[in-house]
This record gives sequence, C-alpha cells and structure tokens, in this order.
Amino acid sequence: MLKFNKVIHYFLLLILLFSLIACNEKQRGFQLHVAQKKWNNAVSQFTEKELRVLETGQRLYIINCSGCHLKNGAGQLQYIGAPALSGNSLLKGEPSQHISIILMGKKSMPAYRNSLSNDVIAAIVSYEKNAWGNNSGFIVSAEQVNAIKIKVTEINKK
Ligand code: HEC
Repeated sequence: MLKFNKVIHYFLLLILLFSLIACNEKQRGFQLHVAQKKWNNAVSQFTEKELRVLETGQRLYIINCSGCHLKNGAGQLQYIGAPALSGNSLLKGEPSQHISIILMGKKSMPAYRNSLSNDVIAAIVSYEKNAWGNNSGFIVSAEQVNAIKIKVTEINKK
C-alpha cells in the first residue's frame, strides 16, 4: 500500500508553505486604506498612484538614507554632520536644490547620480517632502529629477 500518511504529510506541508507565502505577500503588499490614512491630510489628497510612490519612497529612504539621517528624519548632526530632514525648510518648497544635493552629494554624504535611478530618487524626495510632518503636498517626477541631473552634470563639466 502506498504510504498514504506520507502523501497527506506532504500535502499539508505544501498548504502550510503556500499560506506562509500568501501571508508574507499580504504584509509586504500595498494597502490603499493604510496609505490613505497615513498620507492624506488637510494639505494633500494623493491619488492611488501617488500613494504608491510615497510608500515606495519610504522603503527606499530607509534602505539608502536612514543610516545617517535616521528613520524619523531627525539626522545625526552632532555625530556625523547629517542634518535633520524633518522640519527642514529646504524640503518644503521647490525641490531642485534638494534633488541636486542627492545627485551630487555634499561633504560626507555620497553622490547618488550613478547608483540610484531617476525614479528611485523621485520617490525618495517625494517621501521626504511629505514625511515627518513636512506635509508639503509635493510629488516629484522622474522627469524633474532627470532635468536637474542634466543641468548639474553640465555645470560640473565646465
Ligand atoms: C553617509 C551619511 C549620509 C547618507 C547615507 C546620506 N546623507 Fe544626506 N547628508 C549627509 C551629510 C553629512 C549632510 C550635510 C552636508 C553638509 O554639510 O552640507 C547631508 C545633507 C543632506 C541634505 C541637505 C540638508 C540640508 O539642510 O542642507 C539632504 C536633502 C539629504 N542629505 C538627503 C539625503 C538622502 C535623500 C539620502 C539617501 C538617498 C541621504 N541624504 C543619504 C549624510 C548622509
């Protein structure tokens, strides 16, 4: 007789595996109502696409920038000279200076023009401009980042 028990065993194991994968996907996946609650406020009502950009920006900020500027944007000015990004007036209005610092780096901050794509930089900048109470309502596009990239690389060629 075929080892019926064994078959059941593998079957259950397979179900367990699939449900684990499904749970994981659900946790990592985009949840519109959570993002709406988090980002929509009196200043800004973001579209679903913009909310996705902000969520992605948060993930990418944590990976690339939080080592120095911290997850809560408080910075570490006294230890490594990284200023706070929360409540920073540079992040409130027109974004070109903010973007060019990320592209070109500054003092001990690395330049990201070759390591991060325009899309990634746009998402990070959009996140920073709306996170930690910065609430600027701005979403920056990859095209905007690219325009500034062309400008700053021209200036640096001269
Ligand atoms: C190795 C540490 C380090 C990392 C990583 C880093 N920064 Fe910085 N950042 C700094 C330092 C130091 C300064 C201040 C430079 C100066 O003295 O003007 C700075 C300045 C800035 C400023 C200008 C703030 C102001 O008030 O002038 C912005 C915006 C900024 N960083 C964004 C980012 C973003 C976005 C990332 C990730 C893509 C990032 N930084 C990653 C160290 C870092």
